[in-house]
Amino acid sequence: MEILHVSAECYPYAKAGGLADVVGSLPKYQQQLGHIAKVVIPMHRTKFLYDNEWTVEHKGGFMMGSTHYDYTIIKEKHNKLDFDLYCVDIYGLLDRENIYSYDDDTQRFTAFQIAVVDWLSHWEHRPDTVHVHDHHAGLIPFMMRHCFAYRHLANIPTILTIHNAQYQGWMSWDNTNIIPDWDTWQWGLLDWNMMINPLACAVKCVDRVTTVSPSYMEELTQEANGLEQLFVSERYKCSGILNGIDTVVWDPQTDTYILDNYTITDAGSGKLLNKKKLCKDFMLDDTLPLFIYIGRLVGEKAADLLPQAIRDSLNQLGNKMNFLILGSGDKNVEDQLMYLTGNFAGYYNSKIGYNEKLAHQMYAGADFILMPSRVEPCGLNQMYALRYGTIPLVRSTGGLKDTVTDIGEPNGFGIRFNFANIWDITYSIHRAVELYDDQERLTAIRKQIMQIDNSWEKSAEQYINLYTSIQKK
Ligand code: GLC
Repeated sequence: MEILHVSAECYPYAKAGGLADVVGSLPKYQQQLGHIAKVVIPMHRTKFLYDNEWTVEHKGGFMMGSTHYDYTIIKEKHNKLDFDLYCVDIYGLLDRENIYSYDDDTQRFTAFQIAVVDWLSHWEHRPDTVHVHDHHAGLIPFMMRHCFAYRHLANIPTILTIHNAQYQGWMSWDNTNIIPDWDTWQWGLLDWNMMINPLACAVKCVDRVTTVSPSYMEELTQEANGLEQLFVSERYKCSGILNGIDTVVWDPQTDTYILDNYTITDAGSGKLLNKKKLCKDFMLDDTLPLFIYIGRLVGEKAADLLPQAIRDSLNQLGNKMNFLILGSGDKNVEDQLMYLTGNFAGYYNSKIGYNEKLAHQMYAGADFILMPSRVEPCGLNQMYALRYGTIPLVRSTGGLKDTVTDIGEPNGFGIRFNFANIWDITYSIHRAVELYDDQERLTAIRKQIMQIDNSWEKSAEQYINLYTSIQKK
């Protein structure tokens, strides 16, 4: 089977969040299962672009509104990622340093999608499935069915994976002219609440919708940033498939980013060495339990609660633990987190920004990871942490609920709490400190979690079964 994945991000080319990790690893596992998986993303100006060799695969052009754009599809020459990676270059629109957050994102991502569909319409053969990820690729299934120039692609089965339904790509109806000539009888497919909504449009147009965990699918019918009713009515074609992790990239035994490699047998001493280094770098006390947070500092992840929860924990429990934070996002949260360093030097530190290497070192050196997310469609960090023997403290939501069992349950190994509030977080930190004091139990749990299999094998197969079920005769 041949699958074309369309996404805004793909690790290691361009990463803003977990979407990149998934799009950079799922295709690899699909290839291992004997299929052909290709990925196409916009040509962002990243280091990976300049560090690698590219061949020109196709050149074309299209009208967007009254402007003509030329596009070029380039392909990474040496199959470095174990699957074919293609990028769409549109001069002036896509060749930028950041992935998102430009004023003309609507035009940029619409142009990206038109170029992909236009390229696809020039293929000599057809892929068996077009798999779009999140709203940045959400108009593609519509274009393949209802834009006059591309209707010959209508028979190709399509699937949408939702990594995050909070962002939907809304655009006002003034933008209808940027979508290539389309059948206006179908306007209802583009519309949600008087706006063009690419995510909602994809849900309506594709053959199957998946979310990145089963619990998140359930939650979307209750809370989906305005799309709840849509998920109720389209429920019949939706299902949740839990993400996996790339166990080659995330392996404490071979990880080249960390100081001391370790396995289940020497996890105690291995983690301690990594912890000592980390604590030295960030002026922390390596005899205390180390809690980390890694990720975007945004409301969805409840990062706004961190400063107060950390302050309360350190005050109430009398400096019995250390915290280290890595991430970037809301300016206000960033400022508060930096400010804390002055108050709790020696027990708390933070690094504002994105740093893949430091993230690996933190998973390896920490005892606990905090994930109080308000919304967590899947969450990969808890799975990375488990593999590195770091115990997760998570709010019971989405994929966190599907991957972490509380230590109060039979065979439990993590700490779960119900509400994203200061009290629940500090109470969980309290429970973790107690667990840390019981070194024997801690060691046993560490061994247990490092053996949990969260690899892609099973989920990659589930996707293949889904593609198979929608092949048209
Ligand atoms: C998004 C979600 C996260 C998920 C990731 C990969 O970043 O917020 O929960 O793990 O996508 O699917």
